[in-house]
Amino acid sequence: MTLSAELEARFDKLLKSYPPGRQRSAMIPMLLYAQDELGSVTPELVEEVARRVGVEPLQVEEVMSYYSMLHRKPLGRYHVQICTNISCLLTGGEELWQHACKKLGIGHKEVTADGQVSLEEVECIGACSWAPALQVNYAFHHQMTPEKLDRLLDSLRKAQ
Ligand code: FES
Repeated sequence: MTLSAELEARFDKLLKSYPPGRQRSAMIPMLLYAQDELGSVTPELVEEVARRVGVEPLQVEEVMSYYSMLHRKPLGRYHVQICTNISCLLTGGEELWQHACKKLGIGHKEVTADGQVSLEEVECIGACSWAPALQVNYAFHHQMTPEKLDRLLDSLRKAQ
């Protein structure tokens, strides 16, 4: 599998950061970096990562089945993760989730027709003190309201 020079460099750095025999520890960050660049984790990528960290592809598949942040289907350019776990649930997270689904016309792990935005209902993202919270790609948005969410989603749909 041909990877970009940037991804090759990241993979090399990751593999060198673990002691001999522990390269499998690089599996998850490698999958995440590759997913960011390629848009999803493909069967070909599973084979490639398995080869590089020295495990069977089935072991990568097992990791894939456990971690919900690894995706087999391409996400939107902006992946919106809305927390509906307890702190966010008590402060309007469920309403935010329903609001986003209705506004975008998509549901859990779906992508808008233009490929710009995808939605995911997620468990706690570690921002309970600022609930209700959501993430867009790696950026956190705290103390959200339906009005703030509207402005955010409108800006994402227009973003180039
Ligand atoms: S419960 Fe939503 S961030 Fe923790």
